[in-house]
Amino acid sequence: MLSIVSWIVLVAFVAADKLETCDLHPKIEERIVKDTAAWGDAGITEDLVKSVSKHCDTEARIRQHYCNCQPQRILIENGTVYLNNLIPRHRLGPHEHIGLLVELYEVSQVYKLPNVEFTYWLDDHPPGETNYVFSGSGPHGAPRATAWPYEPRGGLPPMVAWSKSADNGVLMVPYSGAFRCAKDSFDALEASLHQTAGVAWADKLPLGFGRWNGFCTYYYGMGLVRSEDGQAVPCPRTYLNNVSAAHPDLLSAFDLGVAKPVPLAHQNRYKYIISTDGWSISSKFDKYLLLGSTVFKAASIRDGFYYDALEPNVHFVPFMVKHKDDIVEALQWARQHDEEARRMAEAAREFARKHLSRPARLCYLFRLLTHLSKQYRYPVSCSRRKLCVPLAQELRYYAQDEKTKDTCPYDELFDKYGATDPLAAPDADRLREVSVMHLDPLHWPRDDL
Ligand SMILES: *[C@@H]1O[C@H](CO)[C@@H](O)[C@H](O)[C@H]1NC(C)=O
Ligand SMILES: *[C@@H]1O[C@H](CO)[C@@H](O)[C@H](O)[C@H]1NC(C)=O
Repeated sequence: MLSIVSWIVLVAFVAADKLETCDLHPKIEERIVKDTAAWGDAGITEDLVKSVSKHCDTEARIRQHYCNCQPQRILIENGTVYLNNLIPRHRLGPHEHIGLLVELYEVSQVYKLPNVEFTYWLDDHPPGETNYVFSGSGPHGAPRATAWPYEPRGGLPPMVAWSKSADNGVLMVPYSGAFRCAKDSFDALEASLHQTAGVAWADKLPLGFGRWNGFCTYYYGMGLVRSEDGQAVPCPRTYLNNVSAAHPDLLSAFDLGVAKPVPLAHQNRYKYIISTDGWSISSKFDKYLLLGSTVFKAASIRDGFYYDALEPNVHFVPFMVKHKDDIVEALQWARQHDEEARRMAEAAREFARKHLSRPARLCYLFRLLTHLSKQYRYPVSCSRRKLCVPLAQELRYYAQDEKTKDTCPYDELFDKYGATDPLAAPDADRLREVSVMHLDPLHWPRDDL
């Protein structure tokens, strides 16, 4: 049996001046509006949200497929973020999971959030289950059918992921773990910009530089990325080894099986930085934009939350667009148009500081949740769920557990917001309850029953 804990929540204070508006880049806002329109007039019904519970409908599926380790269900009510299930401890640790929770907590402290509920699917890829099924799409204005296998089949439970292709119905969120948790996070790099800006453009080496693990993700392997000549784009992370070997005067872009790693903060010695997808979009791309070098980005079918606002040949140079070797021409062009390349490097840095910094990401999440909140056709409330653990208490648990205490700097949140958020106060009884649920390998509240 599942343990069901009811939390007595005393929210007897009025949140101090939480923000109710902010401005996003119009293209980023447009993307949110478009993606949250996926439900059409029917909107998000409660059976869609509850159907995520059916993902783990038997004990055998939990034991054999760890189905309770994928969906992290999140509910926001009266400005407080709650979790409707807890990820078993044996799967805790990665900042891909925890980073978004940390960022959501901060959003809830800075902005007045509307009531919403959604699922964060813990994987490099958005779930195949939320892919649109192209045959037999509904009449104009009606929601498109997805591959969702649970009743109501073909529906789209509200889900978020940090990258997607046009064929998937998830909503995009920042890759918050890489933005704020890791030692070489975007935020850390931005804070040390005075150092990374230290290499003057004229002193940078006019060479295309790239280092990465030699991952080849499926969308290259399956030929889903095509260049203008109609050919399948090869896996950039291995193919560029060959291009580099053929053009050592222009390009040093190798996987780590071939060449030694170079820390990100030292890559600003090069005028041209090469970015390629790994399993999915590269979280390094966000950081490259800060380096003051011209970023060259390999063609991909995957987007991140802000990609619509980035303009090719204004903020970065796209390659593998015309044909698989066009990076050679692109680098030669950059050398011959040094001032234009320098301006692009500057534009990228300005873009990143304005649209990817922490305040901009919090604004993004606020706007996303605000648009999403208009889609619900029932009252979103913890009173309708089996479990609602305040996120602040879950973060307290992470902050003291061996597996998670170093994943992200939690103390900066508690230091900043602890005094005004009673739910963030350390509470030994709650910590024990949360701990017991994390240790239960079968933990999975069934809201569909
Ligand atoms: C949210 O506010 C409403 C109205 O005041 C209240 O009925 C409800 O219990 C609150 N929910 C939580 C989880 O505190
Ligand atoms: C890259 O070079 C290696 C070694 O020369 C060769 O075996 C391989 O076929 C090349 N790959 C491509 C995609 O051209």
